[in-house]
Amino acid sequence: MSKIKEQGMKYNLYSWSAQKKIDPIVITKAEGVYFWDEDGNKYYDMSAQMVNLNLGHGNKELIQAIKDQAEKMAYISPGYSVDVRSEAAQKIVELSGLEGAKVFFVNAGAEANENAMKFAKAYTGKWKFFAAYRSYHGSSFGSSSLTGEPRKFIAEPAVPGVIHFDGPYAYRAPKACKFDSEEDITEFYLELLENQILYEGPEQIAGIFFETVVGTNGVLIPPKGYYEGVRALCDKYNILLILDEVMTGFYRTGTAFAFHQFNVKPDIVTFAKGSTCGYIPFGGVIVSEKIARIFDENKMFNGLTYSGHPMGCATTIAAIKAYEKYGVEENVKKQGKVLANILDTFEQKHASVGQVRHIGLFSSIELVRNKETREPLVKFNSDPDGIMPKIVRMLKSEGFSTYSHENMLMVCPPLTITETELKEAMKIMDKVLDFVDEMIKELQ
Ligand SMILES: Cc1ncc(COP(=O)(O)O)c(C=O)c1O
Repeated sequence: MSKIKEQGMKYNLYSWSAQKKIDPIVITKAEGVYFWDEDGNKYYDMSAQMVNLNLGHGNKELIQAIKDQAEKMAYISPGYSVDVRSEAAQKIVELSGLEGAKVFFVNAGAEANENAMKFAKAYTGKWKFFAAYRSYHGSSFGSSSLTGEPRKFIAEPAVPGVIHFDGPYAYRAPKACKFDSEEDITEFYLELLENQILYEGPEQIAGIFFETVVGTNGVLIPPKGYYEGVRALCDKYNILLILDEVMTGFYRTGTAFAFHQFNVKPDIVTFAKGSTCGYIPFGGVIVSEKIARIFDENKMFNGLTYSGHPMGCATTIAAIKAYEKYGVEENVKKQGKVLANILDTFEQKHASVGQVRHIGLFSSIELVRNKETREPLVKFNSDPDGIMPKIVRMLKSEGFSTYSHENMLMVCPPLTITETELKEAMKIMDKVLDFVDEMIKELQ
């Protein structure tokens, strides 16, 4: 074992893992859509690390902005106005298209959602929150409570008042559902949601959280009209619509924020990841004008030592400029089509691929044992034989780095990826899916 790994295994605690069951690869270099391990093996970074490295590794503009800001002023407390703090907030509000909105900066996605809960409580005077099953909103206490999958269990009993509901996921809808159209799907899930709002008492519900497009839990894309319907329910019952764009923000799905594609105006938007592409921990909460206004006269009870950290603000400004300079929005649209074609072919070709879902450069491959019955390759929250980690290791050994969740594989490369790089990387996926096709024959 190399010295770096030995030291790491002795002193680090690695996320979401039994420490003795992992074998972390030692990474020594990274550039563009690639990184290299200590033995010189090269990997395509096909999850952009944690779906955050939107501009890839080694981006010169981000590095320069960090150096310049560190020399000029590394830190100044949140109560002061500084050039980068003011400019970053303006740029984010403009990017969101939410006129009159304001930004409260935080350090990461979980913290953004925590603060969104407090804003919603302050505005509505209510205390319950809705969040979807099969969602991830972070691992701090409040954001774990919002999370709708097993990663929340350790935080339970969780923050009181968080209610989970089923968001649209037609592929795994209850067996009795017979959908003839996308409109049917929308209608079904909106009816479920409205019933649950009524059961829980609309006068108690402060806000409904959504990942605009569900990320790690499978890139679940809402059907046409769903968010218009949700907006109408929120207006009807005086509930805030809170969109978590921590993963989807900053062009991942092809527009600056994913909600721009769904004809909906949220009341609160949370972001992190792509605002600094992981070069500096950073994030924020965008609150719409009506919410921002209440803090004109009333004290706002949100605050952090590192809110509006100059390093994060400078990096955010540089990132927004770089997204424009490199034509990232156009590239996502262009490469998104290439990726979609490849994935759709996989769905036809591979017996183990139940469904692929994609929007921009945000995609997931759902693996099954049987296409007809849709039996998942591994049962929900149960993979005792380590089938999914084995597939991820196989991909890595061929030079394709990504991660899995339940029976799904994420494919979300840096947004700067070229067509050639994308096609080369997806050839590896194709090859590994051949193995998985063989594997499921043995599992029958
Ligand atoms: C949709 C979403 N929200 C929140 C978070 C939490 O962000 P962080 O890990 O920066 O706290 C994540 C992390 O993956 C996420 O995907």
